Amino acid sequence: MAAETSKIGSIGIIGAGLMGCGIAEVCALAGFRTVLVKATEGDPMTARARVDRSLKVAIDRGKVDASAAEAALGRLTVTSDKLEAARCDLVIEAIVEDLATKRALFADLAPHLAPHAILASNTSTLKIADLAAGLRERRMIGLHFFSPVPAMSLVEVAHTGATDDDVVPAAEAFVAALGKTAVPVLDSTGFIVNRLLVPMLLNAIHAYEQGLAPAAQIDSAMRLGCGHPVGPLALADLIGLDVVYAMAKLLYRDTRDACYRPPALLRSLVQQGALGKKSRLGLYDYASKPPRENAAVVELIRGTARRAA
Ligand code: NAI
Repeated sequence: MAAETSKIGSIGIIGAGLMGCGIAEVCALAGFRTVLVKATEGDPMTARARVDRSLKVAIDRGKVDASAAEAALGRLTVTSDKLEAARCDLVIEAIVEDLATKRALFADLAPHLAPHAILASNTSTLKIADLAAGLRERRMIGLHFFSPVPAMSLVEVAHTGATDDDVVPAAEAFVAALGKTAVPVLDSTGFIVNRLLVPMLLNAIHAYEQGLAPAAQIDSAMRLGCGHPVGPLALADLIGLDVVYAMAKLLYRDTRDACYRPPALLRSLVQQGALGKKSRLGLYDYASKPPRENAAVVELIRGTARRAA
């Protein structure tokens, strides 16, 4: 499949969290030589184990053949050396959502990239123009995957209008080679999906903290009433409350629109390290199966209601 794209044969992914591991999995499955870099301390093999676990789930669900999964793992290199990824045709960063941290990474990578290489960010909300300023602006784009990456078919391809002519078509061909659909979008805070999705997530958290209904009922209402596969509170936990908070702050800063103002409950959970499913505690508590509401949040909401009465 990789041969269908003219220039992109190898993919470097930097950041081995939820998104980086998911992107590495789909790239390796699609036939690309894939280098996944664990950008923070710790054994990079944990990232390989994470991809391996996800592939096993896909095999159990009949979505991937065992032989295809084995071949994908054979194409995947996991390392802590960023320069191994810098040698690839397409380098996708999926590290923490912070402008300065991402720019510092790009500045490190830039001198080591081949002239034809494309640098992409999986940012949820940062503007590509801000990430790219002074750094390979003509060969930088946004490649915004969605979580969980193996299941979600959209990739927003964010472009500034200043890129070389081949960059967006090459990115679209790459996305098609993954079996996903590219939607090109002009660079802007939040692109299309998060500009529209974030207000719904924040409003769901507002409704919850105001005691309108328990979390599970808010989620059921949106699943059954709007046909959403996952309710907004469960989705916020799945995305990561830190990521939702970062998106809301950026959108609010750039638009000053009150629909993006982060609720106090979201801020407080993030400050406590309750980041959603990835930290096993967020709006829901994932220590129990099925997850139940986070008891501390329920108590907080009851206390606020008692004080207001
Ligand atoms: P995550 O928290 O699972 O992973 C982030 C990774 O960044 C971790 O591997 C961590 O070790 C690394 N990291 C943390 N601090 C760092 C630093 N100072 N320098 C270098 N690396 C550092 O987060 P996730 O969800 O994978 O998000 C990664 C990027 O993808 C963010 O830009 C986020 O906005 C974006 N994104 C997230 C989506 C989601 O649903 N969670 C969806 C689409 C985009």
